Amino acid sequence: MPKNARFRKIEHPEIKKILVYPDNEQLARAAAEFLTGLVSRNTTAVVSYATGNSPVLFYQKVGQLVAEGKADFSQTKAFHLDEYYPCGPEKEYSFVNYLNRLVFKPFRIRSENTFPLNGLAPDPDKEADRYERLLKKYPVDLSILGIGPGGHIAFDEPGTPFDSLTHVVKLSKETIKRDREERGQDSPGQALTQGIGTILRSKKILQVAQGSGKYTERFKLALWGPIEPACPSSVLRTVGERVTIMIDEVVAKGLRGN
Ligand code: F6R
Repeated sequence: MPKNARFRKIEHPEIKKILVYPDNEQLARAAAEFLTGLVSRNTTAVVSYATGNSPVLFYQKVGQLVAEGKADFSQTKAFHLDEYYPCGPEKEYSFVNYLNRLVFKPFRIRSENTFPLNGLAPDPDKEADRYERLLKKYPVDLSILGIGPGGHIAFDEPGTPFDSLTHVVKLSKETIKRDREERGQDSPGQALTQGIGTILRSKKILQVAQGSGKYTERFKLALWGPIEPACPSSVLRTVGERVTIMIDEVVAKGLRGN
């Protein structure tokens, strides 16, 4: 790493920016700069937010910048990537609950500009169609993603077609196990999720992963293995010029040759 540099770059044939930060603090700061920079250039930006552990500090940093008057999200629109089904916002693991606490409220996004996925919709297929129509009406400027078990993005589990739209998904055994063992939560076993085709329409994509246990074998495959639905995150290489990946050294250590 060059002296004083806050990050180093991993060279990749398809993804222009894979940035490695020494720790989560610096990653979170850089991701917060990335998002607030985008919003200062485009005050009405439409952003789709991942949940999970990786972006927690990043979102907290953005919340601080908003509280200090250094960022203004009031005109932006906010979408979910996914939500458990069935799942009401009172559940601790609900992503509606997570985004309200960590994003929508601290970023001071107007309630009419937030678009929650209804995990209690009586007909989940109709709810997925409603969400897809909204996402077509408000094209997403930035999708924030993580990477999960099996290399999933959003809740697009291995095998999800690359042209899939927002849909109901049966969660994989691996995801259910992760939720139970790492997050201590009982999963309802199903979810609503933006499809891979939906996500790929985003003008920009920011994928964030930090900390141990970030499925580095799968991440390696996603970056250097075959581009195929068996590893959903590999699809990002097909739009690599629009993708920025931010990881910490813990994740980078698990990636071949880096
Ligand atoms: C959540 C989501 C998931 C997570 C992934 C990684 O909205 O879309 O794909 O990003 O499961 O979660 P963490 O960051 O907890 O490892």
